[in-house]
Amino acid sequence: DTESTSGETTGEQTESEESVVPSKVVIGSDIPYRPFEYETTSGELKGFDVEIAQAVFEEELGVEYEFKKTSFDSIIPSLNSGRFRIIMSAMTINEKRKEKVDFSEPYFTAYQTVIIKKDSSISSKEDLKGATIGVQKGTTGASAAEELKTEFDGDLTLKKYDQIPSAFQALINGQIDAIVNDNTVNSEFADKRDDVVFLEGEGAAAAEGENAPPYLTLTVENYGIGFRKADDEFRKKVNEALAAVKENGTYDEIYSTYFSG
Ligand code: ARG
Repeated sequence: DTESTSGETTGEQTESEESVVPSKVVIGSDIPYRPFEYETTSGELKGFDVEIAQAVFEEELGVEYEFKKTSFDSIIPSLNSGRFRIIMSAMTINEKRKEKVDFSEPYFTAYQTVIIKKDSSISSKEDLKGATIGVQKGTTGASAAEELKTEFDGDLTLKKYDQIPSAFQALINGQIDAIVNDNTVNSEFADKRDDVVFLEGEGAAAAEGENAPPYLTLTVENYGIGFRKADDEFRKKVNEALAAVKENGTYDEIYSTYFSG
């Protein structure tokens, strides 16, 4: 008899049925967000988050992992509805998100930064008044740009894209004047091009001292792995594994693969 009787569910597992450490961890992520998660031309999944997942789940916890593509804007509701077990998506830990999800210990520091065309007339934060700025929907970059808009009494136009490559394309095409986005993702793009540069200035990271990047920073943020609220035991195990990966040199190795000067 394959029919389910009333009271039984055939769909998503409930929290109590879910094992603390599953045999396979399904990870929600918005891809591409290079260098954190992206596919090579041959379709191979790569990136900093992917290698951290490999180290934490396969090497430390001895379980398989699989990345599932999802839109960043809906990633938290999708986690909470059970589409995947956790989020690894270069996701910033913040108070607003903490109302809906729990985070691992931080595993990466990032800054909101601004990139512009090299021939742009914008040369300071103040020059962004009146500009059209591109951001990825639902990100902390979008929030930072909203804040700028408030600072400029509404004199700023925001264009929100589902994925960051569309914003990059719009900047190249001249449809927007600037992009607010995570520093290492911006530099991955800008470093490959002669015509895109960071907007200079000091800002939020200056207080961080020597580690502050040499351009305008609107925020200082930390990335974390996102968990459902009821997933505390698994989160604890993942935190231990993450600490081991930092301790045994694997983290540094992965870091230098992606962020060597
Ligand atoms: N760190 C930013 C945030 O949390 C951007 C993350 C976007 N990640 C991605 N995979 N598209 O909002």
